[in-house]
Amino acid sequence: MIPIARPQIGEEEKMAVLEVMESGMLAAGRKVREFEEAFASLIGMEYAVATSSGTTALMALMNCLGLRPGDRILVPDFTFVATANSVLSAGAEPVFCDIEADSFNMCPDEARKALQADPAIRGILLVHLYGLPCAMDEFLDLAEEYGVLLLEDAAQAHGALYRGRAVGSFGQASIFSFYPTKNITTGEGGMVLTKDPDLAEKVRLHINHGAPRRYHHEVLGYNYRMTDIAAAIGLEQLKKLPDFNGKRQENASIYQEELKGIPGLTLPRIDVDCEHVFHQYTIRTRERDDLAAYLQAEKIGTGIHYPIPLHQQPLFRERTNENQSFPQSQKASKEVLSLPVHPALSEEELAYVVDMVKKYYQ
Ligand SMILES: Cc1ncc(COP(=O)(O)O)c(C=O)c1O
Repeated sequence: MIPIARPQIGEEEKMAVLEVMESGMLAAGRKVREFEEAFASLIGMEYAVATSSGTTALMALMNCLGLRPGDRILVPDFTFVATANSVLSAGAEPVFCDIEADSFNMCPDEARKALQADPAIRGILLVHLYGLPCAMDEFLDLAEEYGVLLLEDAAQAHGALYRGRAVGSFGQASIFSFYPTKNITTGEGGMVLTKDPDLAEKVRLHINHGAPRRYHHEVLGYNYRMTDIAAAIGLEQLKKLPDFNGKRQENASIYQEELKGIPGLTLPRIDVDCEHVFHQYTIRTRERDDLAAYLQAEKIGTGIHYPIPLHQQPLFRERTNENQSFPQSQKASKEVLSLPVHPALSEEELAYVVDMVKKYYQ
């Protein structure tokens, strides 16, 4: 079976973990600080707080923005549920926004309409889906024009560039995930980045029982800390990120070349001014379910990211305005199919996936 994801853990990670084990200091310590500094410097943000997952990074961030009940945050309708759940966790309401048909990211024109219609929207939480940067120029302008926060869920976009600048460095704050399927992993883990020192301090307290010193609890907080074991893995993975992303891009470019021109198959958009890091290589086709079943039978793992738009999830159905429609995310949820693009894919495996997709369309 060719899996849709395969984490790449080498001797370096194993040795780094062993070193932490032998030090006897397993929880958050020196390695976490080192990983925070290295990651902040890679992305180009001043402050970083490592967390136990991308979800806890999102929750800590949203809970430290000073949101009040009734405040609303614009989120894409087509993303992993944690993006929207983090807004709920802070007592605010997610407002869903439709996506662009070709990038799968939040549509700036739809975002403008939402901001015009709803003065309770306090922020835009973008998702750089599949590793493709959002239209940042448009969103920076919109955030300024409407005086709202700009936040980035870059869980899928480590090292992706928009006009030469790393995503996760554009908004007031951003988050990343280091789940095993992501472009780099720490097992489980996440990171909040910000240029605002006060926000960084609040997040640091929030993820550590609200305690600046042991047993001195100033505000409500939790245990969302990363461990030194995870951070040690992350530090080694970070060194490999350029190679991992390079391999993903190489694999994607082979798909682009080999699969182009097949009627009924739409390949991912590649922007000249962006660096897509292909967390997923996602095609779209009306025969999605049939193609997925065919590839499964040929021992090729695929993924559907995501089969249900957020506004249709039972959790959100009754919170969504009935008059709103999300034609693009609805259509995408029926048509998207992610093919294996991970860096551990061999040449033979890639060629086999290409052959099987071509065979399906013959
Ligand atoms: C867009 C997005 N946001 C948030 C998350 C949550 O990250 P984690 O799985 O590390 O909690 C994910 C991970 O799947 C994601 O893809």
